[in-house]
Amino acid sequence: MSSPPLMPAQHQLPPDVSHPPAVRPLAKGTLGRRLVVRVAALVALVAVGLSAVVALAAYNIQVNQVDGRLDRAIARVTGPGPDSPSLGGQEIGTIIAEQTTGTIKGMILVDRASNYGVRPASLSVEALQQLSVLQLDSGERSTIRLVDYGLYRVTTHGDGTARVIVGIPLSQLGSAMTSLMVFEALLTGVIIAAAVLVARGVVVGSLAPLNRLAATATTVSNLPLESGEVEGIVRVPDADTDPVSEVGRVGLAFNHMLDNVEGALAARHASEVKLRQFVADASHELRNPLAAIRGYAELTRRERAELSPTMAHALGRIESESDRMSSLVEDLLLLARLDSGPALDLAPTDVTEIVLNATSDARAAGPDHRWSLSLPDEPVVALADRYRLHQVLANLLANARTHTPPGTRVETAVAVADGMVVITVTDDGPGVPADLQSSVFERFTRAEVSRVRIQGGSSTGLGLAIVAAVVAAHRGTASLDSHPGRTVFTVRIPVARPAS
Ligand SMILES: Nc1ncnc2c1ncn2[C@@H]1O[C@H](COP(=O)(O)OP(=O)(O)O)[C@@H](O)[C@H]1O
Ligand SMILES: [Mg+2]
Repeated sequence: MSSPPLMPAQHQLPPDVSHPPAVRPLAKGTLGRRLVVRVAALVALVAVGLSAVVALAAYNIQVNQVDGRLDRAIARVTGPGPDSPSLGGQEIGTIIAEQTTGTIKGMILVDRASNYGVRPASLSVEALQQLSVLQLDSGERSTIRLVDYGLYRVTTHGDGTARVIVGIPLSQLGSAMTSLMVFEALLTGVIIAAAVLVARGVVVGSLAPLNRLAATATTVSNLPLESGEVEGIVRVPDADTDPVSEVGRVGLAFNHMLDNVEGALAARHASEVKLRQFVADASHELRNPLAAIRGYAELTRRERAELSPTMAHALGRIESESDRMSSLVEDLLLLARLDSGPALDLAPTDVTEIVLNATSDARAAGPDHRWSLSLPDEPVVALADRYRLHQVLANLLANARTHTPPGTRVETAVAVADGMVVITVTDDGPGVPADLQSSVFERFTRAEVSRVRIQGGSSTGLGLAIVAAVVAAHRGTASLDSHPGRTVFTVRIPVARPAS
């Protein structure tokens, strides 16, 4: 347990500022990377589709040309005329086969033997076998892969009993298509690479303002905004607030939101200041009438012997309640002053002396308790307000006196550890009630009034709130460790650095 959460901002140490890890624009999982990958995939899809269409079209055009040559070739073989069945006009590689029921013979034109004709060679048996079972109507064309000769475009002329089969090679077509496809693959690769580069440039450029926006948001979210006057709310740079672009609109909206938040925080601060001022003024104004009430109650004390017992009791109650109210008002005034900024008169102060004085006051006020003191031999100097620090000790010792039964042992100790003066007040009383422990340093936290009244204390529930506020104003901490039989209040404030 440490200082309460309701402390004003100026008494708190700045929160731990954590910076998010810097995100590279195209790191895994980023929007930028997803956009680039998708654009590349889309471009690849379009490029591959286009390549396929182009290849198909090129193939069809070429096959049409081949078909024209095939028609001419079969016309030369079957057509009337003096040349028929001359082989003179035929292309190298042309296949001519004649099939009658049961037999087939065929040849392939190998090369030009003379200026007039070409030299034929017999077709292989396997190829003839393939041609003999070819299912084609007269004039119909087809593509077939012939054993030993490769891809051929073939057609027939004739009827069921006798037909002529003519084929011309498609090998040129095949190599043309291969080069076309290689070229298309290269082109597709280049297009995808270019698309990735362009998309990357556009995406990184367009998303950079978003990263700056995130940086601004992080800076603002690390500011301590809980209370007090808030400064340092940065804005997105003007360059990133162009309403024409989507990201610019986000930046603009973000800046508007920050304006709004800053306005709200300023209004909150103003009302906090007003409220503190009101509490301070009210407490101050209450002091005088209270002093008057106490004065008059005291005045009548001298003539109390002449009063009826009821009247005397009533006057006694007026006196004690106005005392209680005075201390409440003083406490409230002090808290209001501490809230509105450091209200301390700091000077190098010997803490051991203050602890010594406070303990001897407590000993005088509570003779039924057993008080002990443990001080170092050397003076312990802290930069402190001696009057306020005395009040801290007085509050802790008064608690040890009023919230524990007579005979309780109370030990006060001072030590130095890690550059801090450590003051502990330990008692072996019943302990702070468990349900109270987490909020014991908050204002108006106290055990049931009746219990305290019985032990003669004047309980306001502000004593430990003042301890926490004064200690925090000294840049220190106050904490509690309590269970039945052992309650330790620990106050830590920094040791004064020797002036060098
Ligand atoms: N030494 C202690 N032993 C037991 N209870 C304690 C002790 N000190 C404080 N407390 C509990 O913490 C509550 C808050 O203390 P404090 O803020 O000083 O208010 P107050 O003393 O006016 O009641 C007390 O009402 C009491 O119940
Ligand atoms: Mg108290």
